[in-house]
Parts: sequence; C-alpha cells; structure tokens
Amino acid sequence: MSTALPPAAPEGVLLADNLDVLRSLPEGCIDLVYVDPPFGTGQVRRLGTIRTGGGTSTRRGFAGRTYNYEVTSRYAYRDDMALEDYLCFLEVRLREMHRALTPSGSLYLHLDFHAVHHARLLMDEIFGPERFLNEVIWAYDFGGRARDRWPRKHDNILWYAKSDHWTFNTADIDRIPYMAPGLVGPEKARRGKLPTDTWWLTIVPTSGRERTGYPTQKPLKLLERVVAASSRPGDLVADFFCGSGTTGVAAARLGRRYLLVDSNPEAVSIARRRLQLDGPPRPAPGETASGAGSSPG
Ligand SMILES: C[S@@+](CC[C@H](N)C(=O)[O-])C[C@H]1O[C@@H](n2cnc3c(N)ncnc32)[C@H](O)[C@@H]1O
Repeated sequence: MSTALPPAAPEGVLLADNLDVLRSLPEGCIDLVYVDPPFGTGQVRRLGTIRTGGGTSTRRGFAGRTYNYEVTSRYAYRDDMALEDYLCFLEVRLREMHRALTPSGSLYLHLDFHAVHHARLLMDEIFGPERFLNEVIWAYDFGGRARDRWPRKHDNILWYAKSDHWTFNTADIDRIPYMAPGLVGPEKARRGKLPTDTWWLTIVPTSGRERTGYPTQKPLKLLERVVAASSRPGDLVADFFCGSGTTGVAAARLGRRYLLVDSNPEAVSIARRRLQLDGPPRPAPGETASGAGSSPG
C-alpha cells in the first residue's frame, strides 16, 4: 500500500501570471476560490493617493480655498483587452480553477455589468448550469451619479460549486439588522437576520487603515463574509487575481490557509505588507513562520 501524500498546493503570495501557477497545481487541492479579475472595462485602472497639507502641488477645495498636496502613491493595472481576447483570457483560467477545486469546493467570480453576462455562460459551460448557486449583488453607494440613467452602483458575484455538495456555514455568517425590527420581536431583532443574495456593504473608505491605495481594492468585510460562509478553518483559500491581498487577509483572520497570485509587483508587495500587518501568515507545510508569505518570484 502506498503511503505517499498527494502533492500539496503552494501557499503564500506569488508574483506570477496566474495561468502558470494554475497549470502547475495538482487537481483537487483548493477548497475555495474567490477571484476579482479585471472587469473588461477596456481601460487601464489607476488610482493616485494624495496627502494634503504638504508638498508643492496645489488644488482648490471647499469654499474655493487653495491647499497644498503631495502624491503619495500611484498604482495601476491593465484592463484594456478587446472583449473576445478578454473572454479567452478568462475561460482558460476558469477551466484551470475548476480543475484545482476539491470535490466540495466552490468558486466566487466577482465582475460587473461589463462582462458578467458573458461570464455566466462560460461558467455554465465549465461547471454545468446545475452547479450555479447564486448571483450575489454587492450594492454600494459612492461616487458620481449618472443623470441620464439609473446610477450603476453594484457588482455581480457569480458563485458556482464543483459538485452537488459544498460548504455553506450558515451559523458563521455575520447577521444584518431587520428592516422592520418592530415586526419580529426583541430577541430576533437583537440577533439580526442572515443576508440574502443582495449585500449592502460600503466600499473601502477613502481614508482609514484598510485603504492601501491599490485601485479597485475590495472591502475586507465582503471577503470575510465569503470566506466564513464557504470554507472551514484550515482550508486552503485561493485568489488568483489578488491585487492588494484582501482575500488573504480575510483568510488569515479566519484561520484559513491562503494562496494569492498577482502579476503586478506593486500588488504583491502591498499584499505581503498587509498580511504581515494584519496578522502573521500561516506557514506552509515544511516552512518556518518567517518564510511564510514569501514567494520564489
Ligand atoms: C480587480 S484587481 C484585484 C483587486 C483585489 N481584489 C483587491 O482587493 O485589492 C485585479 C488584479 O488582477 C491582476 N491580474 C491581471 N491579470 C493577471 C494575470 N494574468 N495573472 C495574475 N494577476 C493578474 C492585476 O494586476 C490586478 O491586481
């Protein structure tokens, strides 16, 4: 009888094209995938962060007052592929993610109106339409408002399972206030209710500790809800488009292992910095704690 263990997936934060990492993964090694790829906007996504009160640049602010500022960071990633190329790019990666999931694993694919309708068909083809679990709507209210249509203030998160059994820890999901607490009695009102497939969560505040300055950073609260509901302590959670590393921070806080990948060196250095700040990354098997979270890249 063979005593060989199945090959393990790498852990930590890797600087790489995710397709290379995905192709190297053994089958059935990841319990939960959350991915927030470029949305197919046709643009380069940029974010500059400024600090006011110093520097030599000036701008006009409240009541016409002029104030000094300095640019403290300027990060960007590309999202400018033609639609057909973009869908090929997604498809080949989603197929590999499906292969890498454990039999009870599941995948959250975070997109918006630009490509979610195409992605739904792709996911049906790869996972099977019967494996579709939810389309979660993440609703927020921030930024400018269109005057010629309903302002677009939500993202779409498709959730698919690999098989007909998957993890869903109802008891571990954060509860939200009832809209009409007076109708349900004090005990229920105190406990709150489970969220539905529409999640009202604020974006990452423009100032504050959570903000990294990385464009399109997702709120930790959103990732904590995903990880708490759809994985167990000790599970391996992967994000192959990790950006600033939000998924890894949520995983580490909740006692899960993580594999994060991004091809942008700035993203990887932010993710590594955040993981050290927000709690020590869990060591991979055979690694010492100080080596965890680093990568060969
Ligand atoms: C929408 S951002 C992710 C933001 C992240 N969820 C967060 O909270 O910060 C998408 C990321 O995908 C990365 N990316 C794009 N193509 C990639 C590829 N082929 N391999 C790895 N990462 C890629 C970009 O560098 C970018 O950081």
